[in-house]
Amino acid sequence: MTRQILVTHALPYANGPLHLGHALEAVQTDIWVRFQRLRGHDCLFVCAEDTHGTPIMIRAQQQGQTPEELIAASAAEHLRDYQQLLIGHDQFHSTHSEENRKLCAELYERLQAGGYIARRSVRQAYDEQAQMFLPDRYVRGTCPRCKSVDQYGDSCEVCGSTYSPAELIDPVSTLSNTPPVWRESEHLFFRLGAFETMLREWLASGSLSGAVRAKLDEWFAAGLQDWDISRDQPYFGFEIPGSPGKFFYVWFDAPIGYIASFVALAARRGLDFDRYWKSETATELHHFIGKDISYFHTLFWPAVLHGAGLRRPTNVCVHGFLTINGQKMSKTRGTFITARSYLDSLPPEPLRYYFAAKLSGGIEDIDLSLEDFIARTDSDLVGKLVNIASRCAGFIERGGGRLATALPDAELYAQFAAASEEIAALYEQREYGSAMRQIMNLADRANKYIDQHKPWAMAKDPARSEEVRAIATQGINLFRVLMVYLAPVLPKIAEAAGRFLGGPLDAWQAAATPLLGSALAPYQPLAQRLDPAVVFRLVASEPAAAPTKATPAKSAPAKTVATKPATAAPAATAAPGADAAATIGIADFARVDLRVARVLAASHVEGSDKLLQLTLDLGAGQRNVFSGIRASYAPEKLLNRLVIVVANLEPRKMRFGVSAGMVLCASGSEGGIFLLDVDSGAQPGMKVS
Ligand code: MSP
Ligand code: ZN
Repeated sequence: MTRQILVTHALPYANGPLHLGHALEAVQTDIWVRFQRLRGHDCLFVCAEDTHGTPIMIRAQQQGQTPEELIAASAAEHLRDYQQLLIGHDQFHSTHSEENRKLCAELYERLQAGGYIARRSVRQAYDEQAQMFLPDRYVRGTCPRCKSVDQYGDSCEVCGSTYSPAELIDPVSTLSNTPPVWRESEHLFFRLGAFETMLREWLASGSLSGAVRAKLDEWFAAGLQDWDISRDQPYFGFEIPGSPGKFFYVWFDAPIGYIASFVALAARRGLDFDRYWKSETATELHHFIGKDISYFHTLFWPAVLHGAGLRRPTNVCVHGFLTINGQKMSKTRGTFITARSYLDSLPPEPLRYYFAAKLSGGIEDIDLSLEDFIARTDSDLVGKLVNIASRCAGFIERGGGRLATALPDAELYAQFAAASEEIAALYEQREYGSAMRQIMNLADRANKYIDQHKPWAMAKDPARSEEVRAIATQGINLFRVLMVYLAPVLPKIAEAAGRFLGGPLDAWQAAATPLLGSALAPYQPLAQRLDPAVVFRLVASEPAAAPTKATPAKSAPAKTVATKPATAAPAATAAPGADAAATIGIADFARVDLRVARVLAASHVEGSDKLLQLTLDLGAGQRNVFSGIRASYAPEKLLNRLVIVVANLEPRKMRFGVSAGMVLCASGSEGGIFLLDVDSGAQPGMKVS
């Protein structure tokens, strides 16, 4: 039976970059979605930017932008990060969308009609200078319990107690540094308590994990409080219908953003709204979130949905927090790794595999140990998995490129195929770590099979070529089964493996039947070892800072050798001493496409004492460039640094290969070559002008 499933992960806030914790969540979700699709189910995957609230409004003000500008820029960055992490959203929408505005109004009106909205007055800190009510976090002062200074308005980081901002000693607004006043204002409340019976029934019937249920029991025991869903203007969000000057609290409209994103997708694909949002049996709804936001998703959200006449989630999949080298991610400790800094220097799939290997269905925290990350990639992906294919491919290729027509060890293949349901069950339960262990155990057996049969020894005897082909065919087929099982985790590698094997690995069922008699494409390396230097740089204090500064200085002014040295006479306006070319119009300059690039690899060139061969990341793709800087730069010095490249230079065929672009350097009459520096923070592909 084909299941119809809708999946979400938490909407990232639009006021900061994605970090590896966000990446963990997106990867966990994406693996599940890809797994379901591979199994033949109909699985939709939607997400959106979480755009509303005070922090976003304030940040936009500080940056001299409108909130709309800020959230658009953030969405573009987030989307690019997700895409590079190979997250296959069907729709990436925004909570600041017409779909969401309409849905929020509708749901609110239904809650109101059901009698689930209450009004009452709230006393709150007000900043007279900024002329706005202050969220608790925007008030700081001395802790009323332990008297530690400079604590947040809702809790003390020193003694851990929680309180209201009114209890703080000497409170000040963080916006204006003035003491707040206390003002009354009417707020709208969602009557959560009215849903206790429904929620208890829902969680008994559902598939929530043990730890999540335990948390819910605690919350029930503490009693369900009414939830304040309104905020006073100024607020970046949606005004509440019938309550001028009042806005929906960001946490009211954010989960509704899941529906809004679905609606946008439904419009493109012709999907039936009621089937996904009114029935609890026709389709499934799964939310993936971190443990910090489970109150919103396991209490408020199902209650809001139910109160508004909509279906409740099938499951809320809660994960723990990512730590780096055993420590909380923190900017001051240098353990805060943005998705961008990772993606600018490393490929996504080793990280996806590492997360998979560490993830379970529980809420324990997950540690990214960089050393372990390197070791796992080397041993599992390169040493075990890809090794099977690379060991066998050559034998097939030399034997004419075709697989044998029968397996020499059908029994072993059958064992690999028989693991299918157990591995599938682990994926379904989000026990990815156990699934990866099972798969790697099989990889060990495949390698052992090859070790035992030693095709390389047989290959010396031409009379045994059919035997060699048979052994290699067995190896390739075992590899193929493993690749199917790993396709949800390693989508690009699976795609490349599919090209090698002559057909896409797009169905779980493919593992059941071996590939026989068919032709293989030439083998291309499927995964590479990680460069430890690049990995450890992720936690260096200045992540992508250029390692060397080009300081030409000295007496002679340096000239930029961008294009061929000009032959024209120096222009009259040129500064004395500088050898400059004739003036050009801005349009001429604009024809030179200068781009920031990152050096991914650098090496000496056989037979040249001037050139280095560089592999450059230009954001949109990689380039091979030969650059005459060998005299001044050792290749290893260049790794990961940012350079400026003429990107639209006609590719030049050289003795050593084709050079596609030119790296800009300064050079002076006193000799020496100096690469132009790009400040850290710039991204490969950025235009230089
Ligand atoms: N915008 C809200 C979610 C609204 S959903 C309707 C939010 N945004 S967030 O950017 O702060 O967090 C997004 C997700 O990332 C959450 O599920 C959160 O738990 C998760 N993580 C944030 N830091 C994390 C780690 N260090 N590790 C793993 N996940 C973490 O909350
Ligand atoms: Zn305290």
